[in-house]
Amino acid sequence: MNKEWWKESVVYQVYPRSFNDSNGDGIGDIRGIIEKLDYLKELGIDVIWLSPVYKSPNDDNGYDISDYEDIMDDFGTMEDMDELIKEGKKRGIKILMDLVVNHTSDEHSWFIEARKSKDNPYRDYYVWRSPVDGKEPNDLKSTFSGSAWKYDEASGQYYLHLFSKKQPDLNWENEEMRNKVYDMMNFWIDKGIGGFRMDVIELIGKIPDEKIKENGPKLHEYIKEMNEKTFGNKNLLTVGEAWCSNPEIAKQYSNPDGSELSMVFQFEHILLDQQPDKEKWDLKPLELLDLKKALSRWQVELEGTGWNSLFWNNHDVPRIVSRWGNDKEYRIESAKMLATLLHGMKGTPYIYQGEELGMTNIRFDDLSDYKDIETLNMYNERIEQGYNHEDIMQSIYTKGRDNARTPIQWDDSENAGFTTGEPWIKVNPNYKEINAKSQLSDENSIFNYYKKLIKIRKSNPVVIHGEYKLILEENNEVFAYTRTFENEKLLVVCNFTGNKTKFLLEEQIEFKSRELLISNYNSDVYEPIDNIELRPYEAKIYKFILD
Ligand code: NOJ
Repeated sequence: MNKEWWKESVVYQVYPRSFNDSNGDGIGDIRGIIEKLDYLKELGIDVIWLSPVYKSPNDDNGYDISDYEDIMDDFGTMEDMDELIKEGKKRGIKILMDLVVNHTSDEHSWFIEARKSKDNPYRDYYVWRSPVDGKEPNDLKSTFSGSAWKYDEASGQYYLHLFSKKQPDLNWENEEMRNKVYDMMNFWIDKGIGGFRMDVIELIGKIPDEKIKENGPKLHEYIKEMNEKTFGNKNLLTVGEAWCSNPEIAKQYSNPDGSELSMVFQFEHILLDQQPDKEKWDLKPLELLDLKKALSRWQVELEGTGWNSLFWNNHDVPRIVSRWGNDKEYRIESAKMLATLLHGMKGTPYIYQGEELGMTNIRFDDLSDYKDIETLNMYNERIEQGYNHEDIMQSIYTKGRDNARTPIQWDDSENAGFTTGEPWIKVNPNYKEINAKSQLSDENSIFNYYKKLIKIRKSNPVVIHGEYKLILEENNEVFAYTRTFENEKLLVVCNFTGNKTKFLLEEQIEFKSRELLISNYNSDVYEPIDNIELRPYEAKIYKFILD
């Protein structure tokens, strides 16, 4: 059994712009994160995944980097960053940097050089193609709407940008460029960071001429090379973002031989409310049986041969309580139920800022209150294509990335205590009811429930190592499973509805003793175990010592 530290850890994602503003300019910053380290310590997390803080013109909120070895002015200085690493270390919290190397900003010095002329030494760091019949080389699309090719007047060629025009794609075929990326990674490793989250890593093996974006033929070769030249043997956590993955591919990435990454983020469970072969904005109702199938497939297939990351939320996806829960009368119960389901599974859990408070999606009436480039580009494109305003707004309310990007609600003072200035994006008006201050002092709060789940993980090896088995497969109200390790078994039962529901366990569990580890209602541990009744969004984890 491999005992890597990151299998036992819980990661918390900070999206710095929206986390905590220390200087009143309306934008979260690194000193703001340092101020909240004790809050994170109290929650019990081990690692912070820090969304990008590097120098950036902010076309895509920092995912467009103009200098990987410097800090964005809005966020502070390199001294602040060094202090964050040091203060984290004091509290046993490691910092995971966001590695965005599929593309840079068009304001990065490499691209500024590259676009100067066709024979510039940096030209080949990026992907350039001549026009075909006076047009784009092919019909590759950008994730942020429109063609993925941008014409460069000066040189008469197009460059590739799978995201915004200000995010030109790097050419991973270029060895010199790869080595510069590895030097940069070592610069950060030498500062004592805990590892990397790797942005759209599945794209670095792309072959634009064949319109292959994800999972290109050289992807794993590049990751192995990166591993050898940087983090391999350094005992770091590495997690790759892999939207178009499947368990076979994920096993390659997270092979226990350590030649690639610790784990990947897969998105099968995140894509369930999207119509097949359509865009994320083309909505489809959620079905519990689909969720069971998606999550269970990964649990089962990676058993012993890979490692899962467990997440409901990040800065790109809507708030989980507004998605699979009920963000009105059962907000507290359903937020806790969803946490129970995820934290009971096998893998490394990730908590996205505000999830531990049960923060909800946002609905702005006015389009101008939205800030996200993906949302705004999509709105304009769909208006041009003849969609009506109401339908587009419905997609934005359900799927827009700004749902996850409103400021963290620290207390019930003006702007939720996030800033003394004008916040860069409006605060969710529900902050008087939903905020950290009131939850810290309430032992039944969502915050304290997450804290308890983390404690349970730390004191029960079965949570980390237990083998997963889905039970009640066809029940479309209850998601239930067991985890078994040595002579211990967990039973996790979660009601996904706002109704009471009853069910019989299919098989008897023979046990010496049992304990109710956690529940989101007041529960009696001695109630019958084979014939279970659950209240709206009720969740429980039982632990059995087996005969
Ligand atoms: C994935 C990131 O999570 C997202 O926020 C970003 O826009 C794209 N990659 C491009 O870097």
